[in-house]
Amino acid sequence: MPRILNIGSINLDEVFSVPHFIRPGETMTCRSYERFVGGKGNNQSTALGRAGAEIHHAGKIGQDGHFAVELLAKNGVDTSRVRTAEVPTGRALIQVDEQGQNCIILFGGANRAITREDVDSFLDGWGKGDAVLFQNEIASLSYAMEEARKKGLRIYFNPSPADELLADLPLDAVDCFILNEVEGAMLSGLEAGSAGSAGLSAPGASAEVDAMLAALRRRFPGAELLLTLGASGASHENPDGTRVSVPARRVKAVDTTAAGDTFTGYFIAARLRGESPQAAMEEATAAAAICVQKPGAAASIPFRTELAG
Ligand code: RIB
Repeated sequence: MPRILNIGSINLDEVFSVPHFIRPGETMTCRSYERFVGGKGNNQSTALGRAGAEIHHAGKIGQDGHFAVELLAKNGVDTSRVRTAEVPTGRALIQVDEQGQNCIILFGGANRAITREDVDSFLDGWGKGDAVLFQNEIASLSYAMEEARKKGLRIYFNPSPADELLADLPLDAVDCFILNEVEGAMLSGLEAGSAGSAGLSAPGASAEVDAMLAALRRRFPGAELLLTLGASGASHENPDGTRVSVPARRVKAVDTTAAGDTFTGYFIAARLRGESPQAAMEEATAAAAICVQKPGAAASIPFRTELAG
């Protein structure tokens, strides 16, 4: 089974449960407050580890983040490439509303202190036959993608969060995109909402999904595309146009934080094991459905043994 290196963020998440997302000028007392370990990189490495992949995490924390790395290691993740910076660990301030939806403010912290020299040391010893995973929460990402391409690694990219930094990345290096509707809209140039989860009855069957995948295909002719649409399921398309879709599972969400990360980690782990895109999406969907029924980020990601049944 190929091994995978995730060069990604580690955050400390501060989670405020609120009756509604705070409005301009409002002061609100939250219903509860908890701290969790998070960061899209950390969450996806945790999912890969809990799904049974050979996963190595590379990144940066501050002096306040060592316990987060210990937790990551307990999930079967090799953390020997996590370095310590002279700035605090990244932070996420997260509001979770009564429907389990979230909104997030990020402070990059040590994630944004990753240098080109760090990237060189992270990629040392990796090459053809290996895979690498990136999200959009670290510094030196453009350089890391170029170097990974030069070394012949298979590149998985979850372009999250979708922001202006995506425009500077060498995205033609990416072999497989795993992206939601907002990220898909940003990379395809279409409107967010055009493939919206509301109103889609059959997963992958809508004209909007067709339009988004077609626009992404024109821009990235050689890449695998995996579009996740929340309650409307997920659609995967190979470069030859072969498409498969899976429906979402209907569950009551408590907290959707890290659902996308769980899906991403589980999908990639299954693909590395040699599973088909359909089988990989089905397992990822089952894992994400468990994740949303628990509070927190990394803590809410299931172990593969929990998926049976
Ligand atoms: O995807 C969820 C994650 O986004 C949170 O854990 C938070 O840290 C932000 O990175």
